[in-house]
Amino acid sequence: MKKVDVILGLQWGDEGKGKVVDVLTPRYEVVARFQGGPNAGHTLEFNGEKYVLRSIPSGIFQGGKTNIIGNGVVLDAVLFRAEAEELARSGHDLTRQLCISKKAHLILPTHRILDAAYEAAKGSSKIGTTGKGIGPTYTDKVSRNGMRVGDLLSPDFREIYARAKARHEQILRSLNYTYDITELEAQWFEAVEYLKRFRIIDSEYEINALLDDDKSILAEGAQGTLLDVDFGSYPFVTSSNTVCAGVCTGLGVAPRRIGEVYGIFKAYCTRVGSGPFPTELFDQTGEQLCSIGHEFGAVTGRRRRCGWLDLVALKYSIMINGVTQLIMMKSDVMNDFDTIKVATAYEIDGERTTRFPFETEGDIKPVYREFPGWKCDLRKVTRYEEFPEAFKRYVEFIEQETGVPVKIISIGPDRGETIVR
Ligand code: GDP
Ligand code: IMO
Ligand code: MG
Repeated sequence: MKKVDVILGLQWGDEGKGKVVDVLTPRYEVVARFQGGPNAGHTLEFNGEKYVLRSIPSGIFQGGKTNIIGNGVVLDAVLFRAEAEELARSGHDLTRQLCISKKAHLILPTHRILDAAYEAAKGSSKIGTTGKGIGPTYTDKVSRNGMRVGDLLSPDFREIYARAKARHEQILRSLNYTYDITELEAQWFEAVEYLKRFRIIDSEYEINALLDDDKSILAEGAQGTLLDVDFGSYPFVTSSNTVCAGVCTGLGVAPRRIGEVYGIFKAYCTRVGSGPFPTELFDQTGEQLCSIGHEFGAVTGRRRRCGWLDLVALKYSIMINGVTQLIMMKSDVMNDFDTIKVATAYEIDGERTTRFPFETEGDIKPVYREFPGWKCDLRKVTRYEEFPEAFKRYVEFIEQETGVPVKIISIGPDRGETIVR
């Protein structure tokens, strides 16, 4: 029985999912996004070109594969159109390659405004969202007020839209939030027409039929496990289930049809937006990770907070997702470091724990294990055996601690800078 393999982030997003999906796509016939929306920014580099994808799956550059935007995704027609048109201009016409689930929810212009209004109302405790209307759209989905891609095909589409907009306007009035959506709304109505050029499908039926037909499918996650609405550092999370279980609800596949679960992590940690980050560095080392790793958001350009690898969090993410293979990214960023630290436990109120705590806001002191740096250019390596011993010790320690093999090591942003063991 063919199964869906899954790629998902084990930290706070931006682990390098886009790059790895692109690298693994040749092994698959279909790539499908199962949650999130244009809050994602997935970067791919090859042949000297760089692309950032937000709603479109990262399998589109590997010729002729089917790419599906699943029902668990929230779609902003305006941003989707801009993304697809830019790709078309660079020679990638997706109209035959890309399908969209009828059940994916639409981000309306007023969702974006609501996102900004809710953030403003939170003041200093704001989440630091991407401002793309993600929270309000998922809220409408769960409160049974949402609008779906399939609704665009309904003769009542304008009425459904007007009802949703009127509801949002009422909330915005109660928040005393002033805004003008005239231009955005005009763009949105044009963009939803553009959306109809793509195949709008019953994706759950098509995906299960593909599996029955022995076709291989790769599910691409967005964000990361520590941003999951149930298991992340709540409330500083996104509004979807970024974890493996999200594949079942976001694509309509049964749990027994989940195959390999590839968990991606950076050799250190980053986080963008507010919220707890136990191993965050506020010193020169943090600065170095940021500048060498070019740690600035692919979507918002915001500086990413940086810190050491956190094995407490990583093991928690592995447990929640049932990770079967690990993929380590951006090892090259620490090439020149004398010492590398890894958190193996936390001290909270004088008590040592290896559990990711419920209350992540208090004073969490990481307990570190130190490793000597490898002090050489990993980007020159072509096989695992060529890695310096100090680097192999770092990798093997992670394997030992987590009990999961590190199967792929990324040593640079380009497609080719990837070592598969
Ligand atoms: P995603 O959201 O998980 O797809 O990750 P992003 O694209 O937001 O961020 C990852 C960033 O790291 C991008 O700029 C990638 O080009 C870059 N990147 C990916 N892998 C590596 C690597 O192994 N080394 C270095 N130096 N950069 C990498
Ligand atoms: P990719 O797929 C990193 C963060 C935001 C904010 C929180 C909630 O590129 O890894 P939202 O707009 O979702 O309501 O914001 O989640 N966030 C991400 N951080 N990578 C992402 O996606 C993110 N998507 C959302 O910064 O803290
Ligand atoms: Mg990203």
